[in-house]
Amino acid sequence: MAKDSLTIKDNRTGKEYELPIWEGTIQAMDLRQIKVDDGDFGIMAYDPAYKNTASTKSSITLVDGENGILRYRGYPIEQLAEKSNFLEVAYLILNGELPTKDELDQWVYDITHHTIIHENIKELMQNFRYDAHPMGMFVSTVAALSTFYPAAGQIQDEKVRQIQIQRLIAKVPTIAAFSYRHSLGLPFNYPDNDLSYTGNFLNMMFKMTELKYDPNPVLERALDVLFILHADHEQNCSTSAMRSIGSSQVDPYSAMAGAAAALYGPLHGGANEAVLRMLSEIGDVKGIPAFIEKAKGGERRLMGFGHRVYKNYDPRAKIIKQVAEDVFKVTGRNPLLDIAVELERIALEDDYFIERKLYPNVDFYSGIIYQAMGLPVAMFPVMFAIPRTVGWLAQWQEMLGDSEQKIARPRQVYLGEDKRDFVPVTKRK
Ligand code: SDX
Repeated sequence: MAKDSLTIKDNRTGKEYELPIWEGTIQAMDLRQIKVDDGDFGIMAYDPAYKNTASTKSSITLVDGENGILRYRGYPIEQLAEKSNFLEVAYLILNGELPTKDELDQWVYDITHHTIIHENIKELMQNFRYDAHPMGMFVSTVAALSTFYPAAGQIQDEKVRQIQIQRLIAKVPTIAAFSYRHSLGLPFNYPDNDLSYTGNFLNMMFKMTELKYDPNPVLERALDVLFILHADHEQNCSTSAMRSIGSSQVDPYSAMAGAAAALYGPLHGGANEAVLRMLSEIGDVKGIPAFIEKAKGGERRLMGFGHRVYKNYDPRAKIIKQVAEDVFKVTGRNPLLDIAVELERIALEDDYFIERKLYPNVDFYSGIIYQAMGLPVAMFPVMFAIPRTVGWLAQWQEMLGDSEQKIARPRQVYLGEDKRDFVPVTKRK
């Protein structure tokens, strides 16, 4: 009868080792028994960028890249985007179950009543240069929050953790909106607790002289769906950073500042900003063939295309295309959408992209929507960070509760110089 194990033969010694297989993996530590003699450290796995390494077990999000499947706690993203709302999905991701009516009402009340930030934090934000990138302001301000809530360092205290989680989810829209208003030299708008999570965000972003901001319901709902789609994505670069930094048992504000910094990168959360710049550079559908050739030549990347895990169409991109049509009915059609749709059509017929299984990812269309909603390109990674706060915190919380987890500390293969003696400067060539 077939056994769930690998038999490895070390050809250096002729010895054989049987390694159990668990959930399609072997325990990397089981490799350490494979030695040539007692002084040998044993075999390690070498896996730059962790292309084939599971760093944790998790029950939060399933990403099935071959089949283009994304589920939060077992619920398909398509159903959540159609039937739920962001705060309800946030509760699901953090707690593992959809809330009852009473649980949801309490959750919404708690989040709504933590949206205001300390005036000193507001003053800190006002001291950035006028042209500071909003994502740089976001990362710095989240880190600064750790100095206002010193109790947050008690990460093993469930009640303390919950209040920090509520504070962060509630305050990131405020921080995002304040960074936007600062970049335009506009006065900050304070939260309006009568509005929904996304309605209040639009209020803090766009309210001018009117006494009460009235968010457009189509844009309010579009943001809700976009936030649902961006809430979590298993062990992506920024979440892996959140877990790694959090494994040192630092407070969640400091850990999340690191995660947000990882998301800032153009290969990760900065991709939707890069997509807009790419589409603007292409300028017209006639410019597409030349750009595609540059991408195939390795000279440029088709930003918004490709994914480490999805080797099929990113399910989020499909949903975002529908959201784009809803938004453009209100804002007017963004001409860049025509370039994006034609670029996608051409790329999906080209062997270079087909062979490498490069499909549009979540970032390909999101930036076009944000631009149509009046957001500057620099705000796009911040729009990603707001909802991903939920995923970062859920994954951080799961890591803290996992008895197998310790401080993250990978090994290396050393290829540097062997031992050598110091040479005084007078004797150096
Ligand atoms: C997100 O991990 C997540 O879950 C992330 C995310 C989330 O929700 O958290 O889904 C959000 O970050 C989406 C990805 C956004 N980034 C981009 O759109 C930037 C453009 N895409 C790429 O740089 C790239 O596809 C990555 C970074 C997304 C994935 O890179 P991999 O898996 O490391 O793949 P690779 O760089 O090794 O590329 C494999 C091949 C290479 O060609 P060859 O060396 O085999 O000849 O495909 C080529 C690459 O040159 N390639 C591309 C390409 N992406 C990969 N060629 C042109 N355009 C591209 N976009």
